[in-house]
Amino acid sequence: MPPTVIHIAGTGSFAAEVIEFARAAGLDVAGLIEPIDPLRVGGEAHGLPILDPGVPPRPGAAAAVGVGHERLRIRRLLADAGWGDATIVHPSAVVSPSAVIGAGVVIGPLVVVGAQSHVGDHALLGRGVLVGHHTTIGEGSTLNPGANVAGGVTLGTEATVGMGASVAQGLAVGDGALIAAGAVVVRDVQAGVRVQGVPARAFATEHRT
Ligand SMILES: CC(C)(COP(=O)(O)OP(=O)(O)OC[C@H]1O[C@@H](n2cnc3c(N)ncnc32)[C@H](O)[C@@H]1OP(=O)(O)O)[C@@H](O)C(=O)NCCC(=O)NCCS
Repeated sequence: MPPTVIHIAGTGSFAAEVIEFARAAGLDVAGLIEPIDPLRVGGEAHGLPILDPGVPPRPGAAAAVGVGHERLRIRRLLADAGWGDATIVHPSAVVSPSAVIGAGVVIGPLVVVGAQSHVGDHALLGRGVLVGHHTTIGEGSTLNPGANVAGGVTLGTEATVGMGASVAQGLAVGDGALIAAGAVVVRDVQAGVRVQGVPARAFATEHRT
């Protein structure tokens, strides 16, 4: 069977990583979609042509959003133009057979997802992320490299967990919350709040990633 052909939204340095994740997963990356800077459309990045997100794709074409923020907004833009979802799971990731992985999720190398966890649509799990068992990762959330989210955690929509940060078991992290790199979260985090440090404490008032 020929490899599935996909496109990746994003043309910056992180796109280079996502291209490699996709190729390692046996996908054929045909091009990139530039969702932010129209001046880049028509050019080339990482050896691939750059397309306008508004150009209607051929029927059934899929795209993965590789950019590190505003993932859901960009996903909606692509969906409006007719792009389907491409899900990328690096072959070195260990995903429990009882875990559910949503549409358009990107999972990097050496990620582990535990039993009966749920990774919401368009979430991004960077290199070496650990997700415990019975944990829910909200739609469009970003877990940066080395983040460790324990079992029974509920992470809201579009939350961000910084590099190497840990979230202890059973906690709730609200929509749009930001956990700074290296933080150790031992209490629930309210929606939109940024926490940092060990143990993690709220840094400012409202924060939106
Ligand atoms: C939390 C974060 C978003 C803050 O960025 P910022 O708003 O630009 O913050 P600043 O750098 O202006 O720092 C503001 C204050 O917070 C402190 N701070 C910043 N990041 C911190 C962290 N991770 N832990 C503890 N304190 C931190 C700074 O030292 C500074 O303190 P000061 O005011 O006493 O000097 C960022 O540091 C972070 O952790 N991002 C996650 C990055 C990540 O995982 N990237 C992955 C790329 S692959």
